[in-house]
Order: sequence, then structure tokens, then C-alpha cells
Amino acid sequence: MPPVSRLRSRLLAWYDVHRRDLPWRAPPGRVADPYRVWLSEVMLQQTTVPHATRYFLEFTSRWPTVVALASAADADVMAAWAGLGYYARARNLLACARAVVADHGGAFPDDEAGLRVLPGLGAYTAAAVAAIAFDRRANVVDGNVERVMARLYAVETPMPAAKGELRDRADRLVTDERPGDWAQALMDLGAMICRPRSPACLACPLSGDCAARASGAPETWPRKTAKAARPHRHGVAFVLWRGDEVALVQRPAKGLLGGMLGLPTTPWRAAPWTRIEASAHAPAAATWQSAGGVTHVFTHFSLDLDLFVAKASGAIGDFVWTPRSTALADTPSLFRKALERAFAGGI
Ligand code: ADE
Repeated sequence: MPPVSRLRSRLLAWYDVHRRDLPWRAPPGRVADPYRVWLSEVMLQQTTVPHATRYFLEFTSRWPTVVALASAADADVMAAWAGLGYYARARNLLACARAVVADHGGAFPDDEAGLRVLPGLGAYTAAAVAAIAFDRRANVVDGNVERVMARLYAVETPMPAAKGELRDRADRLVTDERPGDWAQALMDLGAMICRPRSPACLACPLSGDCAARASGAPETWPRKTAKAARPHRHGVAFVLWRGDEVALVQRPAKGLLGGMLGLPTTPWRAAPWTRIEASAHAPAAATWQSAGGVTHVFTHFSLDLDLFVAKASGAIGDFVWTPRSTALADTPSLFRKALERAFAGGI
């Protein structure tokens, strides 16, 4: 087993030279702003660094502090989050900002236990903020870190059963020295060098100690059990037009895309919808025309969404009439795709 001190000094020395310059990171030697660290970690649980960066810059320019975010209107935050996915996170984000202001005078608690009780702050986020913003010793384990540990120690247990073992391995490498840099060094190593499909072992500061590298096939870790197929569902969305505006509805607060603006749809189910069945769910009486469909992959299922379009006549229905460009910008990706498809069909 390679000594902890050697692994640590090699990785931290590598990080000092190769660390990514990211907008939520403090320059070397400076303390990071807990608000920015927290916001970035919530976004990064959702998506990649390049995709999150645009959202991070938009959020921090509109709401530069946790106090500003806490007093934002829910609908503005939900709209700004559109495209990041998993909208329960956006609601928790606001709940957390408001709790920091109401219960902590606008300052984030400075340790893992204090952070953990804030709304929506899971074990990962609490550990990441404690380490990165407050330099607390915390074991910050995301998918990148799991992959690095699985390879470094050639852990044969398949995922997800290996999670506990990988967490223990990671924990043994954390000390009181530079815990924030250590957490981010592991993340950067996982993102840039110890990549899922094509690890760049020649550039890796830990390659001399890596058991997976020694095996000759490092990319085959972490071991996995065969995946169950993702279920498939079908739905129909209704695109109702009035001039330049489209009829949107607010989705129920609970459930997938909860609270977001979207197109009216049928329920989503395993069997495809016939035209007659779908018509019973149309949001208004109109001359509905078929306009193709889109496919969207969610975490737990994929969805074929067929599109029916119609022009509205008269004053009908209880809709949020939304200009085209706003509808494209402020709805989740599924509906943005559906609207783009409807435009392409010549609406
Ligand atoms: N992924 C999750 N958190 C991150 C961070 N702070 N820096 C880089 N990548 C990350």
C-alpha cells in the first residue's frame, strides 16, 4: 500500500501547477466565498463544469450574495435554473438561502455538521463546502473521487456496492492539511487525468502507485454490474399558439420538473397514445395537427413526446401565455426541444 504522505504530496504538488481556474475558486492563498462554493457545488451535482459555468456566472451576477438570492422571487430563480435539470434542487437552493439568512444572519455555518442541517444540503455538499470554503477536514466523495480510488487500489467490488469501501479509502487520505485543496485536487485529477474512458496515465502524478495502471487496463475500473435497461415512456404535448405566444402551464410542485413552466401534456406512460386517447387531454378545443415528436432521456427513464399543435381561437383556457423566445429560455430542456421542433415544423 503506497504511503499516504507520498500520495498526498504528489497530488498536491500537481494541483499547485495544474489546478483549473474556475470562477468559484479563490486564487491560491485566498479564502473562497462560501456562497459561491455552495452554489457551484449544487450546480455541479447536476452537470459538467463547462455547462455549469454559464449558470454560475448568470446566478452570481444577478444574485451576488446569499442575501440577494434569499430575497429573489421563486419564479425568477426557477426560470434561471431552467436547463440545469432536477428542479427540486432549485427549490431547495432557495429554501437553503432563506434559512441561511433567517437562521444564521446571512453567514453559512462553518462546519460539516452545521451545514448538514440546512435544507437540501446532503452529505456530499456539506463536506465539499466545509472543506473548500472553511478548510475543514472533510471527506468529499463524488463520482470522480470514487473512480480515482477504485483505480488507485484496483478495488474489485463492483459499483454501486463498492461505494462504502471507496469512501473509506478516500477518508484515509484526508488530513488537516489543506483539506479544501485536497478535495479539489482529487476532483481535478478525476476530471482531467483519471477520466472515465481514456485515462491520461502518462500525465498522472499518482501513476507510479496506481494498481489499475499496473494491471495495464486502468479504464476497466470502477468495476460495474450489468445495468438494467432504462424504461421507456410515451406522452403527447400540446402546443397552442396565439400570435407570437404559446400557452404554457405551471407543472404541479411535486414530481418531475415540479413547479416549472411547461407545455400541457398527457400523463406519461409505458404505452404509446392513440390520437383519440390523447385528444381527451387536450387543454382546449381546437384543430390539433400532428407535428412530429422529440425524445428526451431523463435519469430514470426515456420519453417519446409526440407533438400536437393548434392555433388558439377566442379567449380560452387558463394559461401562462408566453412569448416564443421566453418560452425557449425559461422552460426545461424537454419543452425547449419540443418547442424548437414545433417551430421547425413552421409555426
Ligand atoms: N466538481 C464538483 N465540485 C467541483 C469543484 N469544486 N471543482 C471542480 N469540479 C468540481
